Amino acid sequence: MKEPLLRIEDLWLRRDDRTILQGVNLELNPGEVHVLLGLNGSGKSSLAYTIMGCEGYTPDSGRILFDGQDLADLSITERAKLGITLAWQEPARFEGIPIGKYVGLGQEQASRQMVATTLEAVSLPAKYYGYRAADKTLSGGERKRVELASVYAMQPRLAILDEPDSGIDVLSVGDIAMLIRRMALEGSAVLLITHSDEIVEMADVASLMCAGTIIFSGKPQEARRYFSTRCMPHLESLGSQPWDVTKPEVRAALASNGMGRFVPGEAGNDG
Ligand SMILES: Nc1ncnc2c1ncn2[C@@H]1O[C@H](COP(=O)(O)OP(=O)(O)OP(=O)(O)O)[C@@H](O)[C@H]1O
Ligand SMILES: [Mg+2]
Repeated sequence: MKEPLLRIEDLWLRRDDRTILQGVNLELNPGEVHVLLGLNGSGKSSLAYTIMGCEGYTPDSGRILFDGQDLADLSITERAKLGITLAWQEPARFEGIPIGKYVGLGQEQASRQMVATTLEAVSLPAKYYGYRAADKTLSGGERKRVELASVYAMQPRLAILDEPDSGIDVLSVGDIAMLIRRMALEGSAVLLITHSDEIVEMADVASLMCAGTIIFSGKPQEARRYFSTRCMPHLESLGSQPWDVTKPEVRAALASNGMGRFVPGEAGNDG
């Protein structure tokens, strides 16, 4: 069988004495769009930073294999050289250089045409944006697009996109979905963190993260169904996920917390 491009094995991460990742297992194949779903605080961004090798995100145990190579001893720069790139949930590393230049930074010879094509791909006409400074005057949505364009321009082997659609207007989410599909067609594997149904639907695989672990990997439609019935807001008192909502004590605990509406078959829940 073919080796996956990315293989995460039983990954554990603690930060400030809090366990954030608890035994994550995940596989990603080349050219695959793999969506990572999960509630706020479930650990999605932390997983992204750990794969990228950001400071403070050294796993306590487990392995991350990229193309069969263990990433443990590699710096963030070395990981980037292997072709791993991250688009941040809150892009902030702009320094006022022209957008056209920023987008071309990852390229050895960034041709004017390449930069223009890349900016068009995120619906930022090069004519207006190419020479504009990438700085605080950009709107949140514009910043997300510039960030995405810079990742696209790098043609990474693995693109980790942390909520590329957040702050993007509803009408444009389709553009972003198209660009992601295009990245995959051009050979990038995409690990895509999102809350957008439209984007989940175009993914090849979806994984569901709950309280720092992956509780489901499979078809996007199934992951969504699983999400709505099994992955409820984290109530630490209930212990580890997934919660078995058929258990009376779980149902009682949820009801007593005013969460009965999340429980299938419970009053107030019409799903
Ligand atoms: N330095 C830290 N010390 C303690 N806890 C932390 C630290 N950094 C993050 N956390 C916690 O880790 C958990 C996971 O955070 P993370 O940002 O990975 O979640 P997320 O799934 O990306 O959420 P969102 O959907 O809101 O972006 C959260 O409960 C967060 O409060
Ligand atoms: Mg996040």
